[in-house]
Amino acid sequence: MTGRERGTVQTGQGTGESGMRQLIAGNWKMNGLAGAGAAIAGAVRQGAAGLACDLVICPPATLLIPLAQALAGSPVELGGQDCHAAQSGAHTGDIAAPMLRDAGARWVILGHSERRAAHGESDSAVHAKVLAAVAAGLAPIVCVGESEAERAAGRHEAVIAGQLAAGLPEGFAGVVAYEPIWAIGTGRTASLADIAAMHAFIRARLAARHAAGAAARILYGGSVKAENARDILAVPEVGGALVGGASLDAAAFLAIGHACAQDTCIQANRG
Ligand code: PGA
Repeated sequence: MTGRERGTVQTGQGTGESGMRQLIAGNWKMNGLAGAGAAIAGAVRQGAAGLACDLVICPPATLLIPLAQALAGSPVELGGQDCHAAQSGAHTGDIAAPMLRDAGARWVILGHSERRAAHGESDSAVHAKVLAAVAAGLAPIVCVGESEAERAAGRHEAVIAGQLAAGLPEGFAGVVAYEPIWAIGTGRTASLADIAAMHAFIRARLAARHAAGAAARILYGGSVKAENARDILAVPEVGGALVGGASLDAAAFLAIGHACAQDTCIQANRG
């Protein structure tokens, strides 16, 4: 992650047209026992050398410590899939941001639509979690997205604007992931034109809020796979991808990494 995403001073290490490397984050969701998780992480580690994007794996919390060991010394970083807003305390079953950091995570996904739906997470809850994550030294990846009905009613921009306004704290310098809910796990993706329009909309909203927003990476998520990644990652303002299902297959996940816009070596080979 960059210094800006950590909530500290920007180090300016990015490359590529936008000045920022694209970020490919794998969201394993509630999948992965120790053996299979180690095998995927090991294969990703092997294939990650020379990739021109940043790679993050967000496994179940139970796998953070073993995967931190398996990925030590590699450029692949780890993230959690959620954290509590408090630093510690009587919250049975929850996990605090400092615990994720202590287990080797550098990132955390917050406000995923599955958590909003299944756990009733509100924008204000997401807001509090972002503050907790940043305080613990984690870079937040905050998910926003509209339902199919909201898009059909022409309300998608209003929904996203509301999620950004209420979910992101002042001075937010993390990552935003645009994930239309109807595209998650369905095999359907938003059209490239719709992705471009929504990413431009999110960029304008972020930039209007504060200077850091002009540089924040905006990921697309929702049925990203090896076959469609190159087109999606070439869309203006797409700063990477949040990948669910395909991140459980190391070869598919790495292929998405190779589809990044900055992967000039691969692009040259495409002729
Ligand atoms: P998917 O999931 O790639 O399986 O659609 C994306 C996500 O939920 O982050």
